[in-house]
Amino acid sequence: MGNSTLNHYGFAMDIVQQTPTPFYYYDIDLLRDTLQAIRQHTAGFPYRVHYAVKANGNPRILNEIATYGLGADLVSGGEMQAALKAHFDPKGMNYSGVGKTDWEIKLGLEHDLGCFNVESIPELEVINQLAGQMGKRANIAIRVNPDIDAHTHKYITTGTADNKFGIGTEALDQVVDLALSMPNINLRGLHFHIGSQITLMEPYVMLCDTINRLQEHYAQRDIHFEIINVGGGLGVDYTDPDNHPIADLKQYFDTFKQHISLKPGQELHFELGRAIVCQCGSLIARVVFVKQSRNRKFAILDAGMTDLIRPALYEAHHMIQNLTSSKIEHIDTYDVVGPVCESSDVFGRDCHLPLTQRGDLIAIRSAGAYGESMASRYNMRALPQAVFCTRR
Ligand code: LLP
Repeated sequence: MGNSTLNHYGFAMDIVQQTPTPFYYYDIDLLRDTLQAIRQHTAGFPYRVHYAVKANGNPRILNEIATYGLGADLVSGGEMQAALKAHFDPKGMNYSGVGKTDWEIKLGLEHDLGCFNVESIPELEVINQLAGQMGKRANIAIRVNPDIDAHTHKYITTGTADNKFGIGTEALDQVVDLALSMPNINLRGLHFHIGSQITLMEPYVMLCDTINRLQEHYAQRDIHFEIINVGGGLGVDYTDPDNHPIADLKQYFDTFKQHISLKPGQELHFELGRAIVCQCGSLIARVVFVKQSRNRKFAILDAGMTDLIRPALYEAHHMIQNLTSSKIEHIDTYDVVGPVCESSDVFGRDCHLPLTQRGDLIAIRSAGAYGESMASRYNMRALPQAVFCTRR
C-alpha cells in the first residue's frame, strides 16, 4: 500500500478510514527499520537474534522477520508450525517452555531444532527418551534461573528464584552432568531469560556477571558450551512512541559487548520479542458512545480487552490518540474503555484527548507486541483483523 498520505501521527488515514474497526495497524516500514538496526548493531559479532514469536505471530509479520534472517524463539508447537510456515530455518529455532508436551517435542525433533531450552529434569528425561525412539540426538540448552530481579512488573519477571522458570544455579551441576551422560542429548548451551519490558541495563550487567562466573566454573571442569543464550526482555517507550520508535538497541547490545566474556567460537543468542514489533503496531478503534456519568466522561470504544489485554491484565500504559477529532484545541478528560462486561476493560483513565465524539477513530499505540497475539474471543467477540502499511 503505497502513496497514501500520512496524518500528523504518521497513520495512512485512507487505510485507517476504510478498514472496519477494530483492527491492528502495522507500519511495516518501521518494522523493517527496526530489523535493519538489529542487523547493524550485531554485525561483526557472533550474535544471533531470535524473534520471540509469542510477541506477535501474525503470518505477515513472521514472514517479514524471517527474510531478515533472524532465528525464532518458540514456546509451543503452534508457534513452531507458524515459524516453519514462515520459512524460519529450524536450525535457528529455540524452543522454551516449562510444559512441552510429547507431540511438541516430537515435532521439534522431527525438524532437528537448533535448541530445546530445557527447564527441568523430567523434561530432559522425556526429550532423551523420545529422541532415542526417533533415532535422533536432541540439541538442548539448559535454562538457568539466575535469580536476578529485573525490576519489572511482577507478572513479567521470570528470572527470580520464586518463579517456575528454569533450573536454579544450585541444581545446575547435577542437570549438566545428567545431560552429558544421556546418549540422545547434545548439550549445546546455557539459556537465561530474566523478564520483559526491561529498560535499565543493570539487570543485564548482573546477568553477564553471573554467566561469566558460570562459564569459569564449567571451564575448570573442562565443560564448554557452544551457545550462551541471554533471552530477551528489552523494553520500549510506551509513553513516547513517536520520539522513540525504535528501542535502544545500541545500548542493549553494547551492554553485552562490554560485559560478557564469550569463549572462542561461542555464539551469543538473544530472544527479542517486544523490542522488534511493539512500536510498529497500533490498535485502531471507533468511538461507539461518549457517556457522561456523575463524575467521569467515558469514551466507549468498539475495541476492548479481548483485542488488547495489556492494560486490564498488567495495568499497562498505552498512549491513546484521537485520529479524527476536528477540535484539537478543545482538550477534555476521558476514561477510554471497551465494551466487554468486565470493570477492568479500561484502556486508560483520565486521558487528555481533543473533543471526542461518536464515530471518531482512536489509536492505541505501542500495541504490536502482546496485543494481537493475546487477543481472545471472550464475550464471543470476533478476533481483531490486521492491516499492513508500507510506503517504500
Ligand atoms: N524468551 C523467553 C524465554 C521469554 O519467556 C520471553 C517472553 C521472551 C524471550 C521475549 O521477551 P521480550 O523480548 O518480548 O520481552 N505478555 C507480557 C510479556 C510476557 C513475556 C513473556 N516472555 C506483556 O504484554 O508485557
